[in-house]
Amino acid sequence: MSNILLVALSLGLVALAVGDHPLSWYREFQEIEFEDVPATRNDERAYRLPTTVVPLDYDIYLDLFFDERPDRPFSYDGSVDIVIQAKVESVKQIVLHANVEKVGEVKLKNLAGAEVILDSEKSTERETLYHFLKINVQEPLTPNVNYTLHIDYTNKMNEGPMKRGIWRGWYIDENNVERVYATTHFQPYNARQAFPCWDEPLFKAVFKMHISRPSGYTGIFSNTVPTGNSLLLNNRTSTDFAATPVMSSYLVTFLVSETFKVIAQDTSFKPPIRIIGRSNTYGLADHVLELAVKMTEFFDNYFGIPYAKLHPNLLNDHVSSPDWASAGTENWGMVSYRELYMIINKNETIMSVEHYAATLVSHELAHKWFGNLITCYWWSNTWINEGYASYFGYIATNAMFPQYEFPDHFNSRYLQTSLAFDSSPSTVPLNHEVNTPLQVTGHFGTISYSKAASFLRMTANIMSLETFKESCQYFLMANLYKPTDQFDLLKAMNDAIVDDNSLENYPGFNFSDYYRIWVNEPGYPLLTVKINYDTGDMTLEQERFFLNPALETTDQVYPIPITYTTRRISNFTYLRPSHMMTTRSTVISKPTVGEEWVIFNIQQQAHYRVSYDQRNWELISDALLNRPDSIHYLNRAQIVDDVFALMRSERITIQFALHILRFLAKETNNHVWEPAISGFNWMRARIRHIPEKQAEFDAYVLAQMEHAITTLGFEPKEGESPTVTTARQSILHFACLLGHEKCVQESWDRFYDWRVNQKPVNSRVRRNVYVTGIREGDVEDFNFLLSKFRESNYANDQLEMLRGLGAAKDPELLTSYLKLTLTKEVRSHDKLNTFNYALLGNQDNYKTVMQFVKDNIEEIRIKYIEDSPARPVHSALSNLAGYMDEPALVDYEAWLESQQNLPQLATAKNAIASARTNMAWGTANVDKILEATRSSATKTVTSLFMLIAMTVLLRVI
Ligand SMILES: *[C@@H]1O[C@H](CO)[C@@H](O)[C@H](O)[C@H]1NC(C)=O
Ligand SMILES: *[C@@H]1O[C@H](CO)[C@@H](O)[C@H](O)[C@H]1NC(C)=O
Ligand SMILES: *[C@@H]1O[C@H](CO)[C@@H](O)[C@H](O)[C@H]1NC(C)=O
Ligand SMILES: *[C@@H]1O[C@H](CO)[C@@H](O)[C@H](O)[C@H]1NC(C)=O
Ligand SMILES: [Zn+2]
Repeated sequence: MSNILLVALSLGLVALAVGDHPLSWYREFQEIEFEDVPATRNDERAYRLPTTVVPLDYDIYLDLFFDERPDRPFSYDGSVDIVIQAKVESVKQIVLHANVEKVGEVKLKNLAGAEVILDSEKSTERETLYHFLKINVQEPLTPNVNYTLHIDYTNKMNEGPMKRGIWRGWYIDENNVERVYATTHFQPYNARQAFPCWDEPLFKAVFKMHISRPSGYTGIFSNTVPTGNSLLLNNRTSTDFAATPVMSSYLVTFLVSETFKVIAQDTSFKPPIRIIGRSNTYGLADHVLELAVKMTEFFDNYFGIPYAKLHPNLLNDHVSSPDWASAGTENWGMVSYRELYMIINKNETIMSVEHYAATLVSHELAHKWFGNLITCYWWSNTWINEGYASYFGYIATNAMFPQYEFPDHFNSRYLQTSLAFDSSPSTVPLNHEVNTPLQVTGHFGTISYSKAASFLRMTANIMSLETFKESCQYFLMANLYKPTDQFDLLKAMNDAIVDDNSLENYPGFNFSDYYRIWVNEPGYPLLTVKINYDTGDMTLEQERFFLNPALETTDQVYPIPITYTTRRISNFTYLRPSHMMTTRSTVISKPTVGEEWVIFNIQQQAHYRVSYDQRNWELISDALLNRPDSIHYLNRAQIVDDVFALMRSERITIQFALHILRFLAKETNNHVWEPAISGFNWMRARIRHIPEKQAEFDAYVLAQMEHAITTLGFEPKEGESPTVTTARQSILHFACLLGHEKCVQESWDRFYDWRVNQKPVNSRVRRNVYVTGIREGDVEDFNFLLSKFRESNYANDQLEMLRGLGAAKDPELLTSYLKLTLTKEVRSHDKLNTFNYALLGNQDNYKTVMQFVKDNIEEIRIKYIEDSPARPVHSALSNLAGYMDEPALVDYEAWLESQQNLPQLATAKNAIASARTNMAWGTANVDKILEATRSSATKTVTSLFMLIAMTVLLRVI
């Protein structure tokens, strides 16, 4: 038994002695105590509720008011009856969350129904910083017996989704009438805005909703089946919903509307699988219904606990919401999604959205088990919920929808994203302490999604996919309806491993150590390989990888699963590691001798980077150029991603990096181009302030892309795979941005044909067509696309149109576009996107954007909802800095300083500092970059590149 398990077990016993609390909470709490916790952390723990009193059962009564109450429009009266128990002796204070406008009457009754006397001096207190409502009783509560706490309160609906809680949105229905709807988004800490509750995931309880509203609001849905309606005074109706399973408060939800309805359903399931949306999207959700049906079937099988067995009252509804602060939220029985991912029509929807929709529906369904049935006890291990959902979103989805090739896309979507993020000194471990709301929101990020999913895939490959499945089932079965933590998960994994003896090939390998390090230590390793071709000996060394070359590595050693192949073995399909490397350095022998390339981390399945000795790099580089198909495309992608990182960290020169990457001139594969485009973009962003040199670099990049552009063409081909369609989408978008002449011409022709001859644009190439049409077009083109935006019933196509409109060059048009973001036509969840599109659309647009910001900052702060958890105004003002040259930065900085108490000041100044660092890097390296591009280009490429360089220069002028 490893140390960490011993620690966990003994602490578990301590917790038991204290009382009947969820053990996990104590274990995790104590575990963190061992670290050097900065003193301020203790203050932050003040945000956490005591566990001395727990809720068992809630009845929640909400009376929702819309505009029929001019005295208090869009507000609600609420009351809760909560069955609670004290879990220890001498409890005289009940602490729960309430982030509502006004708390009214508070009453406590004992089991017999008699009122319990509250403290006569101070019966209740509110601590608004922590959202605490404290109720003081005169005599201590008797432990482990039921009391009923009654609280009356009032609150307002939020406007739009960004602040979560109970909020209202709008839509135009099929009769062209504007309608209002109200719904909820509670994850992670916003149930307390809707009703007083123990709003931390470990306090699982049963919830029963009772909702009244004007009788015209007939489209009403919640987590569970409705059990009855009653007509009230004033033409109002109340609906009761059946009890939920025991669950966390953030999973409670409802939606109230006049005309939302079931827009697609499969009633052969119990419960029926239903898609719910605006009435004028009826019949447009068949695609997403198929996703929900197939993925429900898959998970029923995989987890061994069918959806129908989770709880008899639960629904399996999927709501298409016109407004939503995130992509989707896994409320149990009623998932909500941003409409753009639900209303999909292959004729109207761009491939990247169709692609994402499948992984999203699968992700949210996976949460029904991983997240809802078992739940992270606290947000410091959000990664368990989000890591599994993200892993299954790609891996499970592949079983039902292989055409999307999700496991391949996993690499750029999750693994490479994580490798990029996790190489800074400020990164955090998967499991790390968070307390304040800002910290909690922050943990819903790259580490909890991308690194966690990558860690799980790496782990599945080590223990085998069968054992991994078994460990999932063990984990679920042992923790049904309970909060869980990393130790519960480790136990399930260890149990499955022992059952299957699945680590027998790795003698001496300690799985618990592997788990502890990857879960509780930050960062990841760089593996450096040196090969002796005469003996076949390969020396492996690892160090923690930092992208910043100025940083010293640490002495952290990571257990690394080793997979490799060689030119002679050439086996890129076997993904179980041949060795587990648990030391700083080791030597292994390959079975074949003689000179040949060797490649580690097959299909880039594990979370580390690889570098080689010079000779092996040369051999790989030659093979990439001359026999690219001899290396698996995911390893070609890995090499591109690693080479950029090695170049940036100054482990290889720019010259050598571009020498290896010269094979891209013959590459067409989507997965290889993904990291290539981000790498080239990274370099371009650093030489933006030297336009003539950037133009020369762009010409080189375009020459590299020429073959891919020609091969993919400008229209989808009959029967091509979604991945090929995706490749065309991103390559053409990038090529048109860089001014590729044919790309611009072909895109423009399509836009023109649409506007003038009403010839529809193929949905899969709309991104480059819209953007180019507006970039090259005039006011007529702009107004045409704007009118199409207003007519469209497809949120995904509308978003593409916004992206297109943001490419307007004319300051007046661009300003009118930016002004649109201050109106409700651009939904609040799209305001930041729309702002960014203006910056992305054209190099010089930042000037107009800056002026818009200066002229409208007060309104931007209000309309973009600066105080929402996503902090969109912080992001907007930071992003702006990244597009500026030095004179603009000076001006921007002066303007920021001149603003009184701008909350974004510090963030924006940081962004200005990094913009300067980026430019300095570019200035220092641009000549090396251009020299490298010249020497790595082959002869034919050179002439082409001269040609294009000239057109690009002309364009710049
Ligand atoms: C205490 O409350 C729970 C949850 O509502 C209920 O199941 C249980 O029967 C109650 N106990 C008693 C003794 O009433
Ligand atoms: C009650 O509300 C519904 C829906 O708005 C409306 O059609 C009906 O006329 C109202 N009934 C009365 C008595 O006001
Ligand atoms: C897409 O367009 C084709 C050709 O116009 C049509 O046959 C098909 O029904 C359309 N598909 C959808 C989902 O609207
Ligand atoms: C790859 O190696 C594995 C394990 O040695 C073997 O089972 C598999 O057949 C090999 N595949 C190919 C294509 O050689
Ligand atoms: Zn999720």
